[in-house]
Amino acid sequence: MEMRWLHEKIEYYRRKLFDKNEQVSFDGSKFTKLKGAEPPNQSSKLLIDWAVDRINKTNMQPKSLYDICCGIGIIGLTMSKRVPSLEYIYYSDINPRNISSLLLNGSKLIVDRCSISDGVKNVYNNQKFDIIISNPPHFLTGEAKDIAQVDSDLKFHKEFYASAHEYLNPNGEVWFLETNQEIPVDAIKSIVETNKKLKWLGIEKLDYRYYYISMVGLTPRRKKSDAQVAP
Ligand SMILES: C[S@@+](CC[C@H](N)C(=O)[O-])C[C@H]1O[C@@H](n2cnc3c(N)ncnc32)[C@H](O)[C@@H]1O
Repeated sequence: MEMRWLHEKIEYYRRKLFDKNEQVSFDGSKFTKLKGAEPPNQSSKLLIDWAVDRINKTNMQPKSLYDICCGIGIIGLTMSKRVPSLEYIYYSDINPRNISSLLLNGSKLIVDRCSISDGVKNVYNNQKFDIIISNPPHFLTGEAKDIAQVDSDLKFHKEFYASAHEYLNPNGEVWFLETNQEIPVDAIKSIVETNKKLKWLGIEKLDYRYYYISMVGLTPRRKKSDAQVAP
């Protein structure tokens, strides 16, 4: 009798904890998602395939990657499987349910490698990365509940690019997928160019839709010896 009671209790708490979760698929893998968390954005597969291809073609051996606006973490988690050189991946998102879902999907290591953060506001200090990658919000207008998708007045993009140089290693690059003509290439380019420490590397168009990847690096530092000496 006592054992039955115990089993019933365990079952009660198991359901309470886990039945609120949903199983979702991305790139052939299953992920757990809490209710209210962002479902995997299928367009992120294009970004991941493109990123892996660029890493291989350029013989880049990235060790660190930052998945910003990570949702439930599908970009970082998938990249960790496909890019063997990666040793450290950091994740952040504004939605606590996304980060809780990430913690259900990742290894224990992830606990101190993620944060709930509006942009980079709550990212642990002094971290620099070889790659910063994202499928960020893509719409300029929408309801407040659509925080996942809306970047009013490009606030997220403006704030991120104002300090992105602080998070990049010397040869590091930022790769953002943009999928909506509400956020035109020229708008992103001029935001990037207001930060003199960043260098606009161009875009790669992905397909016939308005899908492109913006590529941004660091402005090379001038060596003292290159400086013009006054006659
Ligand atoms: C288009 S979804 C992509 C999610 C995930 N990267 C994926 O590929 O499935 C955009 C994500 O940006 C997050 N987000 C929106 N505004 C943000 C902000 N200001 N700071 C951090 N994350 C934000 C949302 O919570 C959402 O998870």
